Amino acid sequence: MSSLTIVRKKSTESVTSSMNDFMPINGTDYVEFYVSNSKQAAHFYKSALGFHSLAYSGLETGNKKTESYAVAQGKIKFVFTSPLHSGTEIGIHIDQHGDGVKVTALWVDDATLSFNEAISRGATPYLSPTKEEDEFGYVVRSGIYAYGEVVHIFVERSKYHGVFLPGFKPWKTLYNPESTGLEYVDHMVGNVELGHMNKWVKFYQEVMGFKQILSFDDKDISTEYTALMSKVMSNNNGKIKFPINEPAAGLKRSQVEEYLDFYEGEGVQHIAMATHDIIKTVSQLKARGIEFLQVPDSYYDNLVERIGSIEEDIELLRDLNILVDRDEEGYLLQIFSKTVQARPTLFFEIIQRKGATSFGKGNFKALFEAIEREQALRGTL
Ligand code: FE2
Repeated sequence: MSSLTIVRKKSTESVTSSMNDFMPINGTDYVEFYVSNSKQAAHFYKSALGFHSLAYSGLETGNKKTESYAVAQGKIKFVFTSPLHSGTEIGIHIDQHGDGVKVTALWVDDATLSFNEAISRGATPYLSPTKEEDEFGYVVRSGIYAYGEVVHIFVERSKYHGVFLPGFKPWKTLYNPESTGLEYVDHMVGNVELGHMNKWVKFYQEVMGFKQILSFDDKDISTEYTALMSKVMSNNNGKIKFPINEPAAGLKRSQVEEYLDFYEGEGVQHIAMATHDIIKTVSQLKARGIEFLQVPDSYYDNLVERIGSIEEDIELLRDLNILVDRDEEGYLLQIFSKTVQARPTLFFEIIQRKGATSFGKGNFKALFEAIEREQALRGTL
């Protein structure tokens, strides 16, 4: 009897908390990058990261303004968009920022309601609720501005059965390299200007109904030279996690400042993608040419003493340079790529969670020293 009572109480609590959630989000829908050559970018994400061809919009679908290629792997959908002529908003975005993330799209049940809730709480509109349809049904999208020029687009797609979005046709190609095992977006990190972190924490709390689940200050995240502060925002069901970084005072130019200088503004710093087999995923990515940050070999010398016993072979982790951290709930394995475009801005994290819900705080020092070695090579430290 008593266990039944507990179950009933738990389920009432979860119903209450989801009823209070004015911004329910089912997960990440897609991430759109504005890039100078969408065709070649999509090829890189297929060949080097194991995405497969999903959908295309451009001259062949009657779109005379932009060329977009959508690729997918697991639940992750990336879209690469380039303008087809000069003087466009996308072209100006690329001129200022280089290649980068413009849209983080969120999958919702009601894009009109999400938009109205956000606007009534002070969000700046980007796209009014718009119904788009084709022979496969309809999608409603709406959007609001976030930090920098990044926007969140709400996607309502329960009445749509096409391959991606109206306006896109299936992108059929014989070349679809094997997946590398990437499954879903675990978190997406934004870099904001000095003094702006709390403004954006407030935005996610008040406009989006997110909660702050963690915070790191310069005592947690500092090396001899540089420092940063970070707060992690999460939506109600934990499927969307947006850490927000701002630079802190250090002796030299921090990685966040380097990003802000080269991106010429605030933007998405890294996208963490989850795998269920990080050893296999990272082996594949390395074989296909993805370069990762390197921590010193000594990191592995007393790893078990530091984080306790783990299932993976430490020597394999050492060979691949995969990092490990533990929290109260379990452990996680993670690795960070070098930046992936001409400017030292966006990079990727590959993460495998084995119970841990945190972000690898124990690895920050070793990682930031590795980033500083890269900055020193670039002459930007
Ligand atoms: Fe991360």
